[in-house]
Amino acid sequence: MTQEEVFKKLISHCKEYGFVFPSSEIYDGLSAVYDYGQMGVELKQNIKKYWWDSMILLNENIVGIDSAIFMHPTIWKASGHVDAFNDPLIDNKDSKKRYRADVLIEEQMAKYDDKINKEVEKAAKRFGESFDEAMFRQTNPRVLETAAKRDELHERFAKAMNDNDLAELRQIIVDYEITCPISGTRNWTDVRQFNLMFSTEMGSTADGAMKVYLRPETAQGIFVNYINVQKTGRMRIPFGIAQIGKAFRNEIVARQFIFRMREFEQMEMQFFVRPGEELKWFEKWKETRLKWHKALGLGDQKYRYHDHDKLAHYANAATDIEFEMPFGFKEVEGIHSRTNFDLGSHEKYSGKKLQYFDPELNESYVPYVIETSIGVDRMFLSVMSAAYCEEKLDNGESRVVLKLPAALAPIKLAVFPLVKKDGLPDKAREIMNDLKFDFKCMYDEKDSIGKRYRRQDAIGTPFCITVDHDTLVDNKVTVRYRDTMLQERIAISDIKNLISEQVSFKSLLKKIAQD
Ligand code: GAP
Repeated sequence: MTQEEVFKKLISHCKEYGFVFPSSEIYDGLSAVYDYGQMGVELKQNIKKYWWDSMILLNENIVGIDSAIFMHPTIWKASGHVDAFNDPLIDNKDSKKRYRADVLIEEQMAKYDDKINKEVEKAAKRFGESFDEAMFRQTNPRVLETAAKRDELHERFAKAMNDNDLAELRQIIVDYEITCPISGTRNWTDVRQFNLMFSTEMGSTADGAMKVYLRPETAQGIFVNYINVQKTGRMRIPFGIAQIGKAFRNEIVARQFIFRMREFEQMEMQFFVRPGEELKWFEKWKETRLKWHKALGLGDQKYRYHDHDKLAHYANAATDIEFEMPFGFKEVEGIHSRTNFDLGSHEKYSGKKLQYFDPELNESYVPYVIETSIGVDRMFLSVMSAAYCEEKLDNGESRVVLKLPAALAPIKLAVFPLVKKDGLPDKAREIMNDLKFDFKCMYDEKDSIGKRYRRQDAIGTPFCITVDHDTLVDNKVTVRYRDTMLQERIAISDIKNLISEQVSFKSLLKKIAQD
């Protein structure tokens, strides 16, 4: 199965089992907006809890806030979003379709990479065991020619983006003969900047209404509360403020399911440090955040850092943590050293002092900031894509199983009476009524036990408990483990301990806390 097919299956699985639905579906949907269903919302809550606890419980010097989505419009002027939060757009005059010029060029670069990888794959097949991939990449004339084209394109593209040179972006599209995927033609308009912020009006009368924006990131809500939190919480530098909340961007190229949405959720933490110490803290957070991801056990090889060569005007270091999605390695989280740009700019625009008096240095300064920023929805997608498995079983049947980390699974435990009579449902209910205070449980008595297992596998339930006639005599049940499908008989009184250990966030958090 190609990765594209796997991705399509994952999307339909998300819908079929109540994880993610297209928004407003009965009205034919709303592009790049999605709703989370009964299973999805549980998984999402668990992801958020894992992040929140890793920030708030593990760090005495990090506190949380929940700021409003609407903020004073000048905030977005100060942050640079009004003037510079733009995407370069180009239209194809024949198909009337609109594209991001930078994405068209990046896709062209990816085509060169694909071509190289195909050459490598072909050669690997031809030479078998004796194949030296590194040597082949360095010496094969066709690979070298394609790599040179890609590097030349990359250099022109990086320069045009850095210089904000829209005419050059268009020229690159023309020179590299990039065609519209719909019309197949090269009949392009000029490239224009398009601001990604959604705006609306606040106030009752048309005259008096004020233009306000739906926040495109949660970070600014933290910056403008920096002094409130520092003073009321008596926080001493270094300290952090964490927040989880919705953000909105009018994305033009909105595809790949929940990877790029117009309404999404971020988990952001701004860590305020002494000027001059920011790069040390940048390294520390880079490492801590990768540990957080890897602790989930989705596969260490699925992560990589991507250090930025083009830095935003406010940053002096930036990296992304990328995850291998079914459509390649993609950014899930950004870690940025944002200098004192944001606080400095808010000082200027608001006229209020946002300084910290450092008792050790006996001086005041505007703190520097390290930001960690992860999208909940992208995290959701990475967890789902790593967890989705189709397996052939020994009996010739197959199953779809979500091998979710137990702590994140929407349902922790399913309880089945073997049959719907002889007092087994009552016993099963009794067990569930005891466990429901600790875990999200599900009761199921319909169909054969095999079918019930399949249903739980498909939503990633790590444990199924079956109550049979012997249970009424020996107070034991059969526990069946999702990943191995092994079964064992355990005492009812041991169920809670067995499951608690596996589903708790504690073991995950301990892995991050270890140095
Ligand atoms: N405050 C910094 C900031 O917002 P960003 O790289 O633009 O930085 C941070 O966004 C994270 O938010 C990304 O790594 C991604 O996970 C998530 N994100 C950004 N745009 C998104 C979108 N349109 N849909 C889903 N997630 C998005």
